[in-house]
Amino acid sequence: MAKKIVVIPGDGIGGEITSSAVDVLKKIDEKFHIGLSYEYHDAGGTAYDKFGTPLPQTTIDAAKASDGVLFGAVGGNQWDQVEPELRPEKAILGLRKHLGLYANLRPVKVADTLVEYSPLKPEVVRGVDLVIVRELIGGIYFGDRCESEMHDGHERAWDLENYSIPEVVRIAKLAFETAKLRRGKVTSVDKSNVLATSRLWRRTVTRMAADYPEVELDHLYVDNCAMQLALRPTQFDVILTGNLFGDILSDEAAVLGGSIGMMPSASIGECTSLFEPIHGSAPDIAGMGIANPIGTILSAAMLLRYALKEEAAAQAVEKACDQALADGYRTPDLWKDGFTKVSTTKMTQAVIGRI
Ligand code: IPM
Ligand code: MG
Repeated sequence: MAKKIVVIPGDGIGGEITSSAVDVLKKIDEKFHIGLSYEYHDAGGTAYDKFGTPLPQTTIDAAKASDGVLFGAVGGNQWDQVEPELRPEKAILGLRKHLGLYANLRPVKVADTLVEYSPLKPEVVRGVDLVIVRELIGGIYFGDRCESEMHDGHERAWDLENYSIPEVVRIAKLAFETAKLRRGKVTSVDKSNVLATSRLWRRTVTRMAADYPEVELDHLYVDNCAMQLALRPTQFDVILTGNLFGDILSDEAAVLGGSIGMMPSASIGECTSLFEPIHGSAPDIAGMGIANPIGTILSAAMLLRYALKEEAAAQAVEKACDQALADGYRTPDLWKDGFTKVSTTKMTQAVIGRI
C-alpha cells in the first residue's frame, strides 16, 4: 500500500531543503520499494501571504491524513509586524497541537569527522551521543496568556505554565522506552527548586522510574543542565524535559556538533508524526542554493524509522550522509580549506550517490 507523505516546505530555505530530502526519499524508494507518494501544502508566512492565515485548514487536514509530515521551516523578518495570532511560527505550533505531537525527539550525535567543527574542545565532544525528549504540546507554550493588561497602574503581560500528571506520564514513558533501546539512562531536567510545575514533574517521573528498573534515572536543574552540556556532554544519554526548557537546551546541544544545520528532529503523535530540521528558515541565505540539507535529509531518515518503520532504509540514509561528509563534501556553513565546497543540490547528489 502506498504511503502518503505530506511535504510542507514553509518559508525561507524551507523549499530548497525539503526538495533535497524528497530527492533522497525518491532514491530510497527505488531501492527499498516502499511506495511513497507526496502531497505539497503551504504553511507559515508564505501561507499567510496567500490565504491570510499561517496554517490553512487544508494543510491541517492533509497532515492528519498522512503517514508522515516532512516540514521545512517557517518565519522571516517580513512578517515581524504581523499580529501574534497570525505569525508564521503559529503554523508549526498549530500543527503540533492539532496533530497531538506530544513528543519531540532531537538526537545529537557528533560524528568523529565533525569533532573539529565544534566550538568546544575535541576531547569534550568526541563520542557525544544523546537525545533530547522534549514535551511539545503543553507547558508555558500553550498555557493561558495575556498580551497586555493594566496592573497597579502599569502595563504587563503574562504566560501561564501548567502541566498535568497524565501529560508528564506520557512524555516520560517515551523517554524511558527510548533509553531502554539506548544506553539506559534518563536525565530529567526541571527547575523544581523554584517552580510548582517542576515539582509535580519530578515527583511523577521519580514514581515512574520503579517501572523501569533497567533504566538509571537522575535529575538536574535546567541551569545546571545547560552548564553540564558544555562541560561534559558525554554524560548524557536521554534528556527528558518540558517544552520551554527543551527548546532552549536543544539549541545548545545542537551546536555541540558544530552546525545546527545538521540536526534533525521527530515530533511524535498518537496518529501521525512530523519531521523537521531544527535550524529554522535562515532568510539571509534563502534562494542562494547554499543551505545545508543534511538536517532535513536526516529528518527524512527519522520519518522512515518512526513513521514508516523502515529501519534499514533509515540507516541507509544516515550512512550515506556520514559517507558524503567523510568524503569531504561540505556546504559553505561547514567548509574549510582542504574540503570540497558544494551547493545544496551538489550535497544532496553526494548523499544520493552513496545510497
Ligand atoms: C523549535 C522552534 C519553535 C519552538 C518556534 C519556531 C516556535 O524554536 O522548534 O525549537 O519554539 O518550538
Ligand atoms: Mg527552538
